[in-house]
Amino acid sequence: MVKEKDGATSKRKDEHIKICLENDVEYQSHNNGFQKFKLHPSTLVDLSLEQINLKTTIFEKELDFPILVSGMTGGSKLGQQYNEQIAEICQEFRIGMGVGSQRAAIENPDLIKTFEVRNIAPDIPLIANLGLPQFNKSYDVKEAIFAIEMIKADALAVHINPLQELVQLEGDKEDSHSLERLKQILPQVKYPIILKGVGTGFSRKDLQNLVNLSPYAIDVAGAGGTNWTKIEYLRNKKMEYVSEEFVEQGIATAESLQSAHSIKRPKTLKLIASGGIRTGIDAVKALALGSDYVAFALPVLKALAKGGVDELRKYISTFIFEMKTSMAMLGCENIQQLKKKGHKKIGRI
Ligand SMILES: Cc1cc2nc3c(=O)[nH]c(=O)nc-3n(C[C@H](O)[C@H](O)[C@H](O)COP(=O)(O)O)c2cc1C
Repeated sequence: MVKEKDGATSKRKDEHIKICLENDVEYQSHNNGFQKFKLHPSTLVDLSLEQINLKTTIFEKELDFPILVSGMTGGSKLGQQYNEQIAEICQEFRIGMGVGSQRAAIENPDLIKTFEVRNIAPDIPLIANLGLPQFNKSYDVKEAIFAIEMIKADALAVHINPLQELVQLEGDKEDSHSLERLKQILPQVKYPIILKGVGTGFSRKDLQNLVNLSPYAIDVAGAGGTNWTKIEYLRNKKMEYVSEEFVEQGIATAESLQSAHSIKRPKTLKLIASGGIRTGIDAVKALALGSDYVAFALPVLKALAKGGVDELRKYISTFIFEMKTSMAMLGCENIQQLKKKGHKKIGRI
């Protein structure tokens, strides 16, 4: 197994958190793409908020809301603290949670505990996380299953981030894009697999290639929120003179979601909209445009850094309040209704 120098992976993860908290790391010149759509609410609403039911399931487990916290942390003391706080709130709201890349724990088993949250969140859908470059280098079925069982997770997310690897100082320039090894490995992993981006979006052709790997879900993780080119640019002095257009490249989340929704795919394949999902209105638009779940990362980190679990509870309560109110105004009582008639209830601006 190829290991980085002692602790380099953990150190980089903490550096990423610090940069995210001390800088504006979101896309500037384009948004998540949902702002091109507008909800058409009814003025005469006959639904109360109590009637709105947002329950759904994932990996045959119940979710009270179609919301997942995207994988971010673990691998350090700080990462462990965030994972435990996220788990507490996800259990409280009965929403799903991903942990950050478990590469650090595979390289150093002393770090396994920084990802373990099952005792805090016994009931939620929990998602393990590893990166495509590690599979292309050396990981096999064994590491995929180890990551899942290490934290008693329900599924594994494999993150695909070639652009981030290309711009990252110590990034993997060669092993970050080929899907050939995943094609051999994934059918042997008897757990649901999510193929996810990290915030630059997938093209139509990429999405078709991902569908061909028969995952449980694709998380489009489009552009509009956390911008990894910008984060790596802030870590890398050599990138001082790169153009704004270079830093701002990516496919907006709404665009990637619409491509994913319209390509040929099995009916059972689930879609997750993430990348710049910040409000309940973003979420309602994403569900109406074909996603099954929404996910977000950066707002969770920011809320926890600002005021711990109380602040995160406030953020998620507001997000859900916005979702429920928007659904009531659209006359949609549940997710099925929103998905069925929602697209008629939103229009392009
Ligand atoms: C501090 C931080 C660390 C992250 N680490 C990981 C990771 O280890 N694995 C992964 O798949 N995605 C990682 N991500 C990407 C997120 O899961 C998500 O795809 C991306 O941030 C876009 O969502 P957002 O705009 O809501 O932040 C990380 C994001 C943040 C902010």
